[in-house]
Amino acid sequence: MKRLNSQLQDDGAPMELILLLRTLLAGCKEISFRVSQGALAGVLGSTLSENVQGETQKKLDVISNQILKDILSESGYVKAISSEEEDDVVGCNPNGNYLVSFDPLDGSSNTDINSLIGTIFSITHAPQWMEPDDPSAFLQPGTQIVAAGYVLYGPSTMLALTTGKGTHLYTLDKTHGGFLLTTANVKVPVQTSEYSINASNQRHWLGSTQEYIADLLAGSEGPRGKDFNMRWVAAMVGDIHRVLCRGGIFLYPFDNREPEKAGKLRLLYEANPMAFLIEQAGGLADTGAGRIMEVMPEAIHQRVPVILGSKEEVEACLAYK
Ligand code: AHG
Ligand code: MN
Ligand code: MN
Ligand code: MN
Repeated sequence: MKRLNSQLQDDGAPMELILLLRTLLAGCKEISFRVSQGALAGVLGSTLSENVQGETQKKLDVISNQILKDILSESGYVKAISSEEEDDVVGCNPNGNYLVSFDPLDGSSNTDINSLIGTIFSITHAPQWMEPDDPSAFLQPGTQIVAAGYVLYGPSTMLALTTGKGTHLYTLDKTHGGFLLTTANVKVPVQTSEYSINASNQRHWLGSTQEYIADLLAGSEGPRGKDFNMRWVAAMVGDIHRVLCRGGIFLYPFDNREPEKAGKLRLLYEANPMAFLIEQAGGLADTGAGRIMEVMPEAIHQRVPVILGSKEEVEACLAYK
């Protein structure tokens, strides 16, 4: 089976980016190990602190963030990082050529129930003019991302990665510690009859989202003329992995609640990396008002509505106005 290094070289990734990815993934392997230890290592449960987004931090949120922060800061390749679990941008090496944004642990409400969780990341070039602690360089649209991916800590640990030459899936071979290519150029089926949304938020959705979901629920007796199935892992990595593997539409749509009226997911740490992976696999990723990857961020922790997955189903959803 092909190794990660060799696939990255075939995709024309520069050596420094390959080395950075290997460093980042070394951190993810450590997270994978710690996650798998669970209660034995005392890593489950919550801390007493909240992150900048007002979420109570799980112990594994903090541990995963620290692992990635340490390994990236020490690597030399990274000028600065931004993380869901850090209030501000963290400056690393003034001579580093890359910026890394990450959600160190996605789906952390799943940690205590031994269910799917993962790490989501994206990498852009660091501008020469940038001071290491300057947040403005992170405010680039997703179209500037040079590599994005996630590591899913599931029954097996898997990596989905794109450098703009298709999306590839790798599986961690724990016997020798390497990621091996298990699906090259994964393609999201263009049609689907599976959707993914937290329906408990229905009363907060826009009218167009209400109508779209109502038509899916009406099944073969409604205007869509076919039955749909619903799946919700409660971790975006898990839901997006399913969409990459067998198609589907995933929504965390515009949500009418204050303060941000945007939905739950963060543009830098969740929406953009997933949008890049999905687009590179032939799917669509939209906010409902345009392509996710073209959103110009105004703040590092900004949230955006997310509608992504199988091309024809996303188009069908976007046709509801
Ligand atoms: P995080 O654990 O990084 O804060 O992200 C959780 C997100 C995302 O993974 C998932 O799609 C969504 O929250 C689930 O939210 P609810 O089920 O609470 O709506
Ligand atoms: Mn969180
Ligand atoms: Mn998350
Ligand atoms: Mn998280």
